[in-house]
Amino acid sequence: VVNPWLDDLQAALEAEFGPGPRPAALATVDRDGRPHARFVICRRIGPDGTFWVASDARSAKAEHLRHQPYAELVFWLAARREQYRVAGPVQRRAAADDPDRLALWRELSDAGRALFAWPTPGLPRHPDPAAFPAAIPSEAAPPASFEALVLRPTAVEHLALNPHPHHRRRWRAETGWAEEGLNS
Ligand SMILES: Cc1cc2nc3c(=O)[nH]c(=O)nc-3n(C[C@H](O)[C@H](O)[C@H](O)COP(=O)(O)O)c2cc1C
Repeated sequence: VVNPWLDDLQAALEAEFGPGPRPAALATVDRDGRPHARFVICRRIGPDGTFWVASDARSAKAEHLRHQPYAELVFWLAARREQYRVAGPVQRRAAADDPDRLALWRELSDAGRALFAWPTPGLPRHPDPAAFPAAIPSEAAPPASFEALVLRPTAVEHLALNPHPHHRRRWRAETGWAEEGLNS
């Protein structure tokens, strides 16, 4: 088994969110070593255990990842009372001819695609409402601002709060993904 944690994680996300969006907190580190966390939607989990997020190349998180590609994604499954943390380097895929980036673009809603045509995120508010389109159709080519973030975990941790005592497990690539039970 390449990723012994993957089936459990997939099943837990499916049970918690079904076909709905899968929010996760993405933590990155800035140039000064300070952490920043924000929610994103995990759009896809590859069969190789990679986590895919649609992101703006002009955003602060993209800048952080240029300097420090390591990031952590944290899922909270409220109904199940479980947490999954996945940590590892993030690849930023922005090439115009990247078929996986294009597929992710096409999976977004019209409203989701429109965000990438809005003025630069994080800059002072643009005064013209017309600068914020409401929809971009799937046939449109993705703009340069659109990139796929692909996190390839080197460590995965699961915490379940229902059992007594709480159940905490970790898997690390460096130890061949052997399951380690931890105190919680
Ligand atoms: C529920 C929810 C889902 C979000 N999904 C995404 C997403 O998939 N991609 C994204 O770039 N930002 C997403 N955002 C916005 C981010 O939280 C954040 O405000 C934005 O990406 C700017 O972050 P940055 O300045 O740290 O780069 C989402 C926000 C919320 C509340």
